[in-house]
Order: sequence, then structure tokens, then C-alpha cells
Amino acid sequence: MQEALAARGIRHVAGVLLDLGVSSPQLEEAARGFSFARDGPLDMRMDPTSGETAAEWLTRADEKEIREVIFAHGEERFAKSIAAAIVAARGREPLRTTRQLAEIVGRAVRTREPGQHPATRTFQALRIHLNQELEELEVTLPRAVAILEPGGRLAVVSFHSLEDRIVKNFIRGRSTADHLPRGVPVRAAELPIPELRPIGGAVKPSEEEIRRNPRARSAVLRVAEKVH
Ligand SMILES: C[S@@+](CC[C@H](N)C(=O)[O-])C[C@H]1O[C@@H](n2cnc3c(N)ncnc32)[C@H](O)[C@@H]1O
Repeated sequence: MQEALAARGIRHVAGVLLDLGVSSPQLEEAARGFSFARDGPLDMRMDPTSGETAAEWLTRADEKEIREVIFAHGEERFAKSIAAAIVAARGREPLRTTRQLAEIVGRAVRTREPGQHPATRTFQALRIHLNQELEELEVTLPRAVAILEPGGRLAVVSFHSLEDRIVKNFIRGRSTADHLPRGVPVRAAELPIPELRPIGGAVKPSEEEIRRNPRARSAVLRVAEKVH
């Protein structure tokens, strides 16, 4: 974003809003291959012009890699049986569609989380992995702060605990003064001023908002202001 702004002669902005994750149009367009609810090619790339599709990765990766990605990025406790089922299934026929994967996962997940499709966590995990979403977020947050003017604000809407944890820790890390060695006499005026100031805590959707827009149910908004 810094380069994009510089190309427009902009050095600093008053605010950066990051609305993370997959968009509704991406979920609703079967051809993008993000959704277990709509049958389409097993793609899941946010940028369909580059990178490996989910089908290509699931065909190439070994069982251990698949298990680790589903466990780490999906927090899925059936990652082991799902990975084994995917490897067994791809031995019988090539993995091509979202419905094919959703059915394989559905058979491998022994218990159901209320109101949640059994493939939800696996699809989230593959999407996060293929699009390097957590790595991108780790890189983007400091860059977003770098382009803020003093008094400017960073607002981030995240949709699952992995993202929110990165945002929370980033804001906390930049909102606390560098630790000084114990016992060193420092006058308050000499204390380093933290770069960020959190504005309130985590903002979550109201019951009324969730009723109106169920997709907002796991959203968390965090805001921080640039001090200097
Ligand atoms: C949750 S959606 C945003 C939805 C949008 N605010 C709206 O209300 O329609 C997040 C968007 O960010 C895009 N995206 C994901 N990773 C990105 C990245 N590294 N850089 C830029 N955009 C990215 C996705 O393709 C997706 O369209």
C-alpha cells in the first residue's frame, strides 16, 4: 500500500481500515472455489492469476503437510482423519471440485459443531494457507502504521481467532513502552513513548447485527491510534 499511495503522491493517511478474509462475492461465486456450499473448481485463490489452486496443492502435498495445515489454520481436531481421507480419496480419483472435498471431509469428521458444516474449518485452513493470509497480515500491520500520520488510526476487522490474535498482539506490542532493564533509574519524561494507543477493546457484533448479518458473527474490530 505504501508504493500504491506514493504513486499517487500520498505519503501519509489519516486512517487505514483492513477488512480481512474472504469476501461474500468470492464465497457466492462457485467458480472461485471458496465455498463448500456451492460446487465449483477447487481453487480458493484470492488472486486467481497466480499461485497454486487448492486442488493442485492437495494433489501434491503429503499427508503430514495436509494434516498440519488443517490443524494449524483450521484449529480442526479431526485434522488427522481428514488428511488421511483426502490422501486415500485422491488415490482413487483426482480432486477437482469443492463438493468432492466437502464430502470427503464430511465423512472424516465424526462429530458435528452445531450450525456449522463439517468442512468449514478445513476450507478455512486451506484458504488461509494458499493465500498466506497470516503471513500477509504480519507484514501488512507494521506497513499500515508506517503510513499513518500522527493521530491517524488503524482499524482491523478480523473473522477468526488466528487473525485476531495477530492483530491484538501487534497492537499490544506497539502500545507498551520498550522494556527497560530493571533497576535503571529513568525519569518519566525519558521513558520512550509507545508508537500506538489502543482505542477501546475488541468490538464484537451485537445480537441484532448478527440476526441481520449472520456472516458478522465471528467478526472482531480492533482500533489503535498512532501517537507519534
Ligand atoms: C473481507 S473481503 C473485503 C470485503 C469488502 N470490504 C466488502 O465490504 O465488500 C477481503 C478482501 O481482501 C482481499 N485480499 C485478500 N488478501 C489480500 C491482500 N494481501 N492484499 C489485498 N487484498 C487482499 C480479498 O480478495 C477480499 O476481496
